[in-house]
This record gives sequence, C-alpha cells and structure tokens, in this order.
Amino acid sequence: MAFLLSLYILLLCTSLNAAAAAATTCFVPSKTGDITLHHINSNCYRFSSGITPFDNILQLSTTVDPFRLSLLASSVPIASGFHILNSAIYLLRANFGSPAQPLLLGLDPSADASFLTLSNFSSSSSFQALPCSFTLCPLFKPLPCSSPSSLCFYNQSYGGDSSFSAVLAQDSLVLAADTIPTFAFGAVTYFDAGPSFPKQGILGLGRGPASVVSQTASVYHSIFSYCLPGYNSYYFSGSLRLGPLHQPPRIRTTPLLLNPHRPSLYYVNLTSVSVGRVRVAVPPASFAFDPQSGAGTVVDAGTVITRFVAPAYAAIRDEFRKQVNASAGYESLGAFDTCYSTAGDGVTAAPPTVTLHLDGLDIALPAENAMIHSSARPLACLALAVAPTNVNAVVNVIASYQQQNHRVMIDIPGSRVGFARENCS
Ligand SMILES: *[C@@H]1O[C@H](CO)[C@@H](O)[C@H](O)[C@H]1NC(C)=O
Ligand SMILES: *[C@@H]1O[C@H](CO)[C@@H](O)[C@H](O)[C@H]1NC(C)=O
Ligand SMILES: *[C@@H]1O[C@H](CO)[C@@H](O)[C@H](O)[C@H]1NC(C)=O
Ligand SMILES: *[C@@H]1O[C@H](CO)[C@@H](O)[C@H](O)[C@H]1NC(C)=O
Repeated sequence: MAFLLSLYILLLCTSLNAAAAAATTCFVPSKTGDITLHHINSNCYRFSSGITPFDNILQLSTTVDPFRLSLLASSVPIASGFHILNSAIYLLRANFGSPAQPLLLGLDPSADASFLTLSNFSSSSSFQALPCSFTLCPLFKPLPCSSPSSLCFYNQSYGGDSSFSAVLAQDSLVLAADTIPTFAFGAVTYFDAGPSFPKQGILGLGRGPASVVSQTASVYHSIFSYCLPGYNSYYFSGSLRLGPLHQPPRIRTTPLLLNPHRPSLYYVNLTSVSVGRVRVAVPPASFAFDPQSGAGTVVDAGTVITRFVAPAYAAIRDEFRKQVNASAGYESLGAFDTCYSTAGDGVTAAPPTVTLHLDGLDIALPAENAMIHSSARPLACLALAVAPTNVNAVVNVIASYQQQNHRVMIDIPGSRVGFARENCS
C-alpha cells in the first residue's frame, strides 16, 4: 500500500514536473528577442498525442502535403492576398488586443492572410471592424458588398475539413517586443472546425500586401528568418526572428525570385541535385522557373516533405537506389517509395549525401534531413517524395523536414534567401 502510494506520488510529481517544465520551457521568447516556434505535435501543444515523430511525419506527408501542394501548384493565378494554404505546422505565441490576450497562432510562411479567433472581439477596446472601402478588402475575396461603408465579410474553407466566416478587422498585435497597432486580419465570427483548423488563428508570412511581412515592412524591413526544430526534439522548439537585427551576417544566399503567377510564394532557382558525387541528369524543364505558368521551386515550411516533379524525382530516386544497392530491395511506406531494411547484413554504410544545387548555393543535406527511420522496425526511407501529378503546374517544394535545424533567411529587399546549419532545438 505504502509502495503504491509512493508510486502514485512519484507519478503525480513526475507529471506535475513535466507540466511545470512545459510551462517554463514553452513559448518563452529568447534573450535576443526571437519568437519561439513549436511544432504542433510538440510536448508544448498536443501533450497527449503520444504519436512518434515517424508516424507523425508519415501521417502529415500523406494527408496534409498533397492538399497543400495542390494549392501551391494551382493553375489559377493567385493574385489575391487572401490566400490560405491550409496547414500550419508551427505555432507561436502573440498578444492581441487591449487589454492584451495571449493567442497561440499557426504560422503559414506561404500564405498572405492572417485570421484570428476570439470568443468576444468586443472585449478588446482597440478592435475595429473594417468596411468594404478599406484597401485590403478586395484582396480578401469578400462576400458581395452592399455599399462601400458596409463591413467586409468573407466565408472561407480551410484544410479540406473546416470552414469559417470572418469580418475584416484591425487591432493591435504584439510580436516579440513590438506592437503593430493597426494589424489587419480576418476576425473569425463563426467556424465549423475539423482537426486541421488552428483554433486561435493563423499568421501569414507570405509576400503579398496583406501578409504580416508586408504590414510590418516599416518596422522589420521585410526581412525575417526562422529555424525549424528537429523532428526528434522533445519540445520541438525553434525560432522566428523578425527584422534585419541579429540576422546571420555571413549566411550563404541564393537569389529570391518573384513569380508574378504566384506572388505570395518564395521562389528560388534550383538548378540540379546530386546524389553522392553524381549530378543527377534531370529533364531541364523539371526545375525551370516560368513566370507564365508558375513553374519552379518554392521554399515552404508549411509542406512537410520536399517534393520534386515526377521526372526529376524518378531520376534522383533511381540514382539513390543504385548507390545504396540494398540487398533486400526497396519498399514503399506512405509518401516514401525508397525504404530499405537496415537490419542484419542489409545496408550498413552511410547513405549517399543528397545535395540541392541552388543558384550560388549548395545545400548538402545531413542525414537527419535526407533520411527518415521507422520507429517500429529497422527501416530507413529516403525522405523525399514525388509532387502530386494530378495538378496542372510543375512546382518543386523545399519543405520543412529538409529545413529542420537550418536557419532560413528571407530578405525581400535584398532579393535573397539564406540557408545555414544551426541547432534550433
Ligand atoms: C463582450 O464584451 C463586451 C465588452 O467587454 C461585453 O459588454 C459583452 O457583454 C460581451 N459579450 C459576450 C457575449 O460575452
Ligand atoms: C457564409 O457562412 C455563414 C455561416 O456558415 C452562412 O450562414 C452564410 O450563408 C454564408 N454566406 C454565403 C454568401 O455563402
Ligand atoms: C549490388 O549488390 C549486389 C549483391 O547484392 C552485388 O552483386 C553488386 O555488385 C552490387 N552493385 C554495386 C554497384 O555495388
Ligand atoms: C538559374 O540559375 C542558372 C544557373 O546559374 C541561370 O542560368 C538561370 O538564368 C537562373 N534562372 C533564373 C530565373 O534566375
């Protein structure tokens, strides 16, 4: 009995300690003013998810990614600012309204719009709903306006499983130590939420006129960087750094391209891919940047696994398989088609390094960014996948798994994107 009681106390203390540790470890701003990012499945958010990182990635890469890619690659020109890409994998804490209330917001680096949900917007004295005559209203694809002075409303679907109604509004938003007094966003008045819906809202870090980046241009000069946590880290914590201060001064960069067909997205010029020492022969059209069709390569932390258009992916995968030469062959698992046994006499040598060659910058992917290991059995998979073939345009995506433990810097006025290894977690 005494044993059971002390065991009970021990367990209780352990869980209290875990909760206390979480409370002091989660969403704490860094000394340099960085905003802490946590993965949605970190111990700071979905405490009880109990899902292994491997299963989590398998799930996200088969459910979230194809939906997101179909939007990223949509052949409809996305000129509007209200461009919700329907997935938020990383969360940050911001303060909103007067008096300030903390909100946990999803970060969408490729979307322009932000939307926020509060139980009662009238409880913020600085909240103001905006009329149809407001400049950003037409960008938000509003419901029909009866007059310029009527409020700007819209209905949106989200993530394939949710929908919501919102009114265009402005209020103060505090990010790190900075207050944005008249931040414009969609104030959610009603939602029908499925599991993918981030209940407190989304911040869009795209490059269109309604995004956080554009609305804070006078403060942060349209420069930011982020460091995404490793998928195996307990608290899954990384950082978002807004503005030119404290950005790595000597980070290696590649030109940032603007594609008028999809002006919200951060395009880069991927020229080739190497596997080991072999530069893979890829049909030239696979990586070509095309302002007319929107084809090219985007950097997007809202997609989980890096995707290449079918001919490029096939060439890269075939070269990888050839070099690994797994004795028991390859099998598919979820989005991955190059998984092989690492047991017994199977492959023991390190897999060949995959290097992305961007214009002026090579990214040699460390094993943690190139490979994924099953949590259930000795199985390693090449952590790259083919872009969905059911979409019209050809878009390659450099996604979050390949960016983990790297600092990625977006410098819009300098037209450059930087990449550097950094331990984020
Ligand atoms: C919303 O907040 C306002 C101001 O604090 C208050 O007067 C009103 O009763 C609240 N409404 C609801 C439904 O709670
Ligand atoms: C917008 O959504 C609300 C809530 O679901 C619904 O009542 C309304 O009919 C919708 N309006 C339009 C024009 O779709
Ligand atoms: C691949 O492995 C097989 C045995 O499984 C061996 O005969 C062959 O030489 C290997 N090929 C290369 C290129 O290493
Ligand atoms: C991409 O890089 C290649 C090689 O440096 C260059 O020839 C090409 O013009 C670049 N494309 C764009 C759109 O910048």
